[in-house]
Amino acid sequence: MTEYYVCDDDDLAEMGRLVVECGDKQVGVFRVQGEIHAWFNRCAHMRGPVCQGRIYRRVLEPVAEDGTVRMMQQSETEINIVCPWHGYEYDLKTGRHPGNPRIALRRAEHVVREGKIYVRV
Ligand code: FES
Repeated sequence: MTEYYVCDDDDLAEMGRLVVECGDKQVGVFRVQGEIHAWFNRCAHMRGPVCQGRIYRRVLEPVAEDGTVRMMQQSETEINIVCPWHGYEYDLKTGRHPGNPRIALRRAEHVVREGKIYVRV
């Protein structure tokens, strides 16, 4: 396993992202609600560059008991990324597709040491 420098810890802002080359692979590194998460840049659908997709709060449309849809809301806690190829969506903290938990991104190991972020591939 090889360790690759990503950036200084202070340089990855909240909701920030960096996609780094790690040999013949790419890893996306994100800061979400203060935590760092690293994912291989390969969508579970057809290996698209998922880590370069749009990031936003999960959209919720609560359904009332009478079947009507209430006003659209955005989740306070769930932050998703959308693959730019065909729109598969993943929770940036768990890597799981919100509609099918069997579909998920592959997590990359990371470490923060002496104020610097590294990934191990
Ligand atoms: S490759 Fe990501 S949605 Fe198809």
